[in-house]
Amino acid sequence: MDADRLTRNSAPFTPEREQDHNALVRRIIRSYHGIIRLYGTLRFGIIPLALLDIIDSRLPREGLIFDFGCGFGLFGLYMAARHPGRKVIGLDIDARRLAVARRSAQRLGITNATFVCRDVRDWTAEQPGSIGGLYCLDVLHHCPREAARGILARVHDGLSEGGVVIVKDIDAAHRIETAFAWLMDVLVSGRTRFSYRTLGQWTEILAQSGLPPRDVVGFRDWLPYPHVLVVAAKRGQG
Ligand SMILES: C[S@@+](CC[C@H](N)C(=O)[O-])C[C@H]1O[C@@H](n2cnc3c(N)ncnc32)[C@H](O)[C@@H]1O
Repeated sequence: MDADRLTRNSAPFTPEREQDHNALVRRIIRSYHGIIRLYGTLRFGIIPLALLDIIDSRLPREGLIFDFGCGFGLFGLYMAARHPGRKVIGLDIDARRLAVARRSAQRLGITNATFVCRDVRDWTAEQPGSIGGLYCLDVLHHCPREAARGILARVHDGLSEGGVVIVKDIDAAHRIETAFAWLMDVLVSGRTRFSYRTLGQWTEILAQSGLPPRDVVGFRDWLPYPHVLVVAAKRGQG
């Protein structure tokens, strides 16, 4: 499966839609302080409107949505604010990041997003088949390579039939750009080993987990990250 260019997949943006998006992003960024506000500005710069729009439009507008490895909660707050009928649960292993996310939710008055300290490698849905959508933005390559299959198997069990899973990661087939991503990951995490995969490997592991990919989007921001986003859904019984 080839990655479509982002522009082919995006709906046209009216000036009003773009203004709404920008106003929400500004509000979210302003709810953070200090260096995290700067990080948030960069992160929203790296994940552009067209991509957020794809994620937002593929996730159900209501019901349970999980944000795996939510970090400071930037995108969980965005997805929650877009549709108040969603119940967004952000999971992260880093309690300090989660405390920041909760404070921002409070400042923004967003009550349909909660942030829970959890290692996604141990996570199992409380109620199998209850989750409408789940996304992992630049998280799976931080987990050990052998952990991805187990995580995706439990994601599959947690999703409702037709439930959507969105994985945004990098495509390791682009070796020079992957070296750039590695450098950035080292600087941010302090670690040196990451589980990068090629686009073909991401789609294969999803398909093998009963989550056949529906859409693949490749995109570039102003930095040379080889971003790729895969939208998959749990296969129905029939
Ligand atoms: C590159 S950051 C991405 C944060 C957020 N998804 C975003 O796009 O801004 C990766 C996040 O994954 C979290 N993480 C890494 N391994 C994890 C694990 N096993 N369980 C839960 N969170 C994890 C890190 O703490 C970090 O917040």
